[in-house]
Amino acid sequence: MVVCIILIYLIIEVIVTNKYTRKSGEVDEFRPTCKTRSWSQEAFTMSSQQKEPKICGSVVGCLPETYGINISKLPLGEGRPWNQMKWMGKPARCRVKGHLIESLDDIYNFRRGWALKYVKDVEDKYHLVPWLLGNRVDLNLSKRRVYLDLGANSFKSSIQWFMQMYPCDFKEVHAFESNPNVFEFPKEEFDEDSNFKVQKNKNAIAVIKTPEIPKWMIKRMHIYNSLVSDFDDESTKIVNITRFIKETLKLKATDTVVVKMDIEGNEWSILEKWLEDSDMVDIIDELFVEVHYYHPSVRWDNKDHTRDQASHLFASLRTKGFYVHPWP
Ligand SMILES: *[C@@H]1O[C@H](CO)[C@@H](O)[C@H](O)[C@H]1NC(C)=O
Ligand SMILES: *[C@@H]1O[C@H](CO)[C@@H](O)[C@H](O)[C@H]1NC(C)=O
Ligand SMILES: *[C@@H]1O[C@H](CO)[C@@H](O)[C@H](O)[C@H]1NC(C)=O
Repeated sequence: MVVCIILIYLIIEVIVTNKYTRKSGEVDEFRPTCKTRSWSQEAFTMSSQQKEPKICGSVVGCLPETYGINISKLPLGEGRPWNQMKWMGKPARCRVKGHLIESLDDIYNFRRGWALKYVKDVEDKYHLVPWLLGNRVDLNLSKRRVYLDLGANSFKSSIQWFMQMYPCDFKEVHAFESNPNVFEFPKEEFDEDSNFKVQKNKNAIAVIKTPEIPKWMIKRMHIYNSLVSDFDDESTKIVNITRFIKETLKLKATDTVVVKMDIEGNEWSILEKWLEDSDMVDIIDELFVEVHYYHPSVRWDNKDHTRDQASHLFASLRTKGFYVHPWP
């Protein structure tokens, strides 16, 4: 009897082991195959001598190699559903301002992962970290260092991220938020030494006040309760952002200027002007923009533009020399 049980056990063991042990050369179809080796070693370094194809300098060269592939037509198993996720990403075929930048895959300007509930955070932006210009050149070397947040929303949604994560010590922050109820000015900083109370459970330390933003950070911030567009209109509080950058702030090519733009559709008219404006491409070091368009899963209120047009806009901006990323 015992011998019988041991025998059955051994037979099952052999079957199971065979089923899950891959012979060499076999591809694991459940995981996307990792093809990163040909580029990963040099991908994040400034000195890499990656050869660029001849099409660089054209819009087509700046579009991703997968451009035009209809993802819903790919059979399940070829990377799906994982191609809905924002991976750290490959570098684009063409450099911008001489620097490697992430490939313009649609997922970076598309909330597919969020819409399909693969991720919880619509604002997930950590895939951008390796490609930040501030990680490639020292943006602290400019005397004037400005961060412009157009469509700031709450302090936590992007200003805080840029002040904490972006490798530049911004001396000025100019934030536009048209809805006065959305932007809550951060309160005073907290006192690190006396802000804790000890709980009954000694390991559960609790703060008395929620830590706030340091005063030095608040002093650098300027908040404008206006909408941003490509024309001025005082009666409806609309600001011509090009004029504001050139004439009000008097920003120059020698300054460090990083811009984030999330203005619910107004980006189209502004960016189409900037494509023809050689001052703006020199003034702005790095640009983050959420380009809005129509897609049933994205629920943006924009009926005028398609996702293809959004990809083309990004590619055109890069062709003109804007170091631009889809935001978030
Ligand atoms: C992609 O393919 C799906 C399924 O065949 C189709 O419904 C959809 O219209 C296609 N999208 C585009 C942009 O061609
Ligand atoms: C620029 O300054 C900030 C703040 O001091 C620092 O965190 C960052 O590493 C600096 N960047 C470089 C490239 O030195
Ligand atoms: C916005 O400002 C720019 C820069 O001053 C200017 O060239 C442009 O004509 C202005 N737009 C309008 C509609 O006035």
